[in-house]
Amino acid sequence: MTHGTSQENITVQASPNLALIKYWGKSDVEKNLPATPSIGITLKNLTTTTTVARSEKDSVVVNDIPVDIERFTPFFDSLREYFDSKDCFSCYSRNNFPTSAGLASSSSGFAALAFGAGKLLDPGVSLDIISGLARIGSASAARAVFGGFVSFPSHAEHADKIHEEHFWPELRIVVVEISKTAKTISSRGAMERARLTSPFYREWCLDSEKIFPKALSALANKDLESLGPFIRSSYLKMFATMFSSEPPILYWKPESLVAIRCCEEMRLKSIGAWETMDAGAQVKIFCLEKDVSKITQVIKEALPHVGILISEPGPGPKEILQKTV
Ligand code: PMV
Repeated sequence: MTHGTSQENITVQASPNLALIKYWGKSDVEKNLPATPSIGITLKNLTTTTTVARSEKDSVVVNDIPVDIERFTPFFDSLREYFDSKDCFSCYSRNNFPTSAGLASSSSGFAALAFGAGKLLDPGVSLDIISGLARIGSASAARAVFGGFVSFPSHAEHADKIHEEHFWPELRIVVVEISKTAKTISSRGAMERARLTSPFYREWCLDSEKIFPKALSALANKDLESLGPFIRSSYLKMFATMFSSEPPILYWKPESLVAIRCCEEMRLKSIGAWETMDAGAQVKIFCLEKDVSKITQVIKEALPHVGILISEPGPGPKEILQKTV
């Protein structure tokens, strides 16, 4: 199917999708299908801006640094196969937040890339198709193709939007930037190691299936008190597979644990601060707008040197007017 446009380039802005319920592990490594179901929120204010242009060969530059194209080859090959195209693309991408540091930059990066290249090849292409293509690059990117609240069932080819971005207007995400340095092991490598070596991996997959429908229903009710324990359970069980891998994977820094304990203490004082972490040292706290200033104050007192960003559910990828890159 060829729908090619004459448009030569496109600039897209996309945001990372942060998981409340985690994807961790692949049921099909080649197709990059998730072994566990996940639920995530696309975050406002954190953005990846990517210009995709038709070119002689594929190339990707992130924050002015050319990246190893091998990481992108399965994505570009799947894109060409789906659209029956021979086109290659050069891509320039810039994040306004730390890259490869556990802030889901690969989710916004591949979402922007799939949206941009997909729209160049067929302006009418559906978001489900774009989500499936983004998944080849990074499974969490399949979620970042949609704004608002997004689910991604295990073994599925694409994610699904469950609630639009303004569904829960009081919800906020306090991002505690513990470290700006890139992680030493990619989430891809870490989840494969967990799958192959953690004695808890199978249980993790089974347990995630049990949590998923309960979390979906707590979310549908906008009930943070019920949703919070599922958020906590999901990330801690995910890390249990990392701590029990061979060799173990340790993304946490001492400050991560300080932030976790702050949340625990706040909950004892009836402040709904529910933290999560990804493949990195950063801690992200889900809470309600009314508690943001208290939570920020507690974290700043305990960790005066960390950066704090406040986010909320935001929109999916969109084409923007091209700036000079
Ligand atoms: O999509 P990847 O390969 O970057 O993996 C993301 C994994 C987590 O961020 C830890 C969890 C998630 O669901 O986003």
